[in-house]
Amino acid sequence: MIVGGLIAVKSKKGINAIEASLESLKRMEFRGRDSSGLAFLIQGKIEVIKDAVPVDILSKSYDLSSFKSDVVLGHTRYSTHGKADKVNAHPHIDCRGSVAVVGDGALINYEDLLTKLLSENHLVRSKCDFEVVPHLIEFLTVSEGSSLLKATLDAFKFLRGVFSLAALLSDGHIVAYTSKQPLYVGEGNEFTSIASTKSGLYGIAEVYTTLEDGEVLLLTPGGDMKFVDSEGRTVFKVFKPLDLSPSLVSTDGYPHHMLREVYEIPYAILRTYSAVQRKYLELVGRVLAQSDNVYVVANGTSLHAGMIFAYYLSELAGKVPIVISAAEFPYYYVDKVKVGDAVIAVSQSGETRDVLKSAYEARLHGATVVGLTNNINSRLTRFSNIYLPIGAGPEISVPATKTFTSTVVLLYMVALATALASKTLSSEALDKVFEDLSNLSSTLLSVIDKLNAVAKEKAKLIAGKRSGYVVSRGLTYPLALEAALKIKEASYIHAEGVQGGELRHGPISILDKDMFTIFIEPLEEDAARDIHKLASEVLDYGASTLLIRSEGLVDVKEVNLEVIEVPKSSNKHLTVIPLSLAAQLLSYWIANYVGSPIDKPRRLFKVVSN
Ligand code: AGP
Repeated sequence: MIVGGLIAVKSKKGINAIEASLESLKRMEFRGRDSSGLAFLIQGKIEVIKDAVPVDILSKSYDLSSFKSDVVLGHTRYSTHGKADKVNAHPHIDCRGSVAVVGDGALINYEDLLTKLLSENHLVRSKCDFEVVPHLIEFLTVSEGSSLLKATLDAFKFLRGVFSLAALLSDGHIVAYTSKQPLYVGEGNEFTSIASTKSGLYGIAEVYTTLEDGEVLLLTPGGDMKFVDSEGRTVFKVFKPLDLSPSLVSTDGYPHHMLREVYEIPYAILRTYSAVQRKYLELVGRVLAQSDNVYVVANGTSLHAGMIFAYYLSELAGKVPIVISAAEFPYYYVDKVKVGDAVIAVSQSGETRDVLKSAYEARLHGATVVGLTNNINSRLTRFSNIYLPIGAGPEISVPATKTFTSTVVLLYMVALATALASKTLSSEALDKVFEDLSNLSSTLLSVIDKLNAVAKEKAKLIAGKRSGYVVSRGLTYPLALEAALKIKEASYIHAEGVQGGELRHGPISILDKDMFTIFIEPLEEDAARDIHKLASEVLDYGASTLLIRSEGLVDVKEVNLEVIEVPKSSNKHLTVIPLSLAAQLLSYWIANYVGSPIDKPRRLFKVVSN
């Protein structure tokens, strides 16, 4: 499972919490709605009702209004570990039915925990990673002779990944825990509530506080609340008013989904890592290492991620893939594809017509098709021999943002796995990615508000222009193409991605004061110097000029440019993430000034199926 939304609701005055829980879940369906479920306590027994349907349908089909309980767990799901079906839906329970768990995020060490629990004869029914949690709690009650509550608190120490969860114990306790992402706790007149988003608390909480990384919330059957840190020490929390404007509940307080989704990037990059099961990643690495030719097929933003992969793969594994638009591949390339070749088909939606056609035809020609998708219930997973989840969670805004950065992370992991199989790198390099991503995630979280404010300011330079170029070189050149695409689709201003070296071969001739140039500083010093030289030359032609660069990455003397500076990652290959985030914020604010319908640009659809 990845993303999705969880809630836990406990009523203060003994009134029914089921209706409030369902309303709360509906408000979080932007985080996924392929399955839903409730667990609630009736006379000391945990009832679980769940199915592969959205909340409204669950409620009607199972006549949920006929049940009454004052303590409820709820979940709305977006699947990555295990397809959308009734068994994989949350809540999950242990063998004895004494604890129910809902979770959002992903457990990195799911496979190890599963192996252990199966060897202890636990009946693990689903393919969802979070089902191991209730069984682990049950196992600890037996092996350690612990109470249910102590076993629950102990179980959290065994879990690794980026996730939040809530457990309902048959003795009436609710216990919530979070790792590397926030979980919100609300207080209202009638209910105490826990939710993955502030919008989940809307209507049932007047004030809220945030459960931070490693913290636990304990809600006793009597309604007392206790917060403890990972060492078991009491944490004092400050509650503040839940100031969510009614018109922004559906976007969780952001003016558009696009901005909300960019703000999710620091978490989404970690989820991507956590969602990928190592055994499948290493299998993909072996397939690519042994392939005669590697093709990457995709469209739009996914194609740009594929172009970045070409740099990763050639640098790390010494293999140069052929990256080609899925709209071209079936007509000009597939005839050359043969047994022994690998085709990586990348598609956020997993439903793009050209990608499906490419994958289908590549298989007919005997290639091994590796599907990379954010939607594991899509046709791409069925058309592929092996698939890997992008794991960014649902993306609603048509301009893709968090799925781009997550696809880049996944492709980076694929390149490392190929290098591992080719013996050009050791497995530590793959292990270290999580550390690098965690550091990058924390850094991004600490600067994102400031970066957003700078992007908002600099966007004014571009919003009134007729057209412009986004210029870069090397690994960051696909970022230039992607930034240009984002500006076009979000704001309807014409923008073109240009390789630095190509600017003087024609494009430079039309620059004037009605145009803009955005330079993305390359990651290599020579190329960066070259881009600076070009930028200073372009200034003379009157175009508004902006540089997006990584702080302290290369030592180049600044020309007199407007600059958006992002923090660098200690891992050079991941520095494309902060650069990309800055370009996305810039595109968002340009579109905002223009006043275009950002999340739903004219003539564009989230899935291009024809
Ligand atoms: C991205 O902002 C665009 N909306 C579009 O280019 C998109 O990336 C393209 O249609 C491919 O979609 P897919 O990844 O779902 O296959």
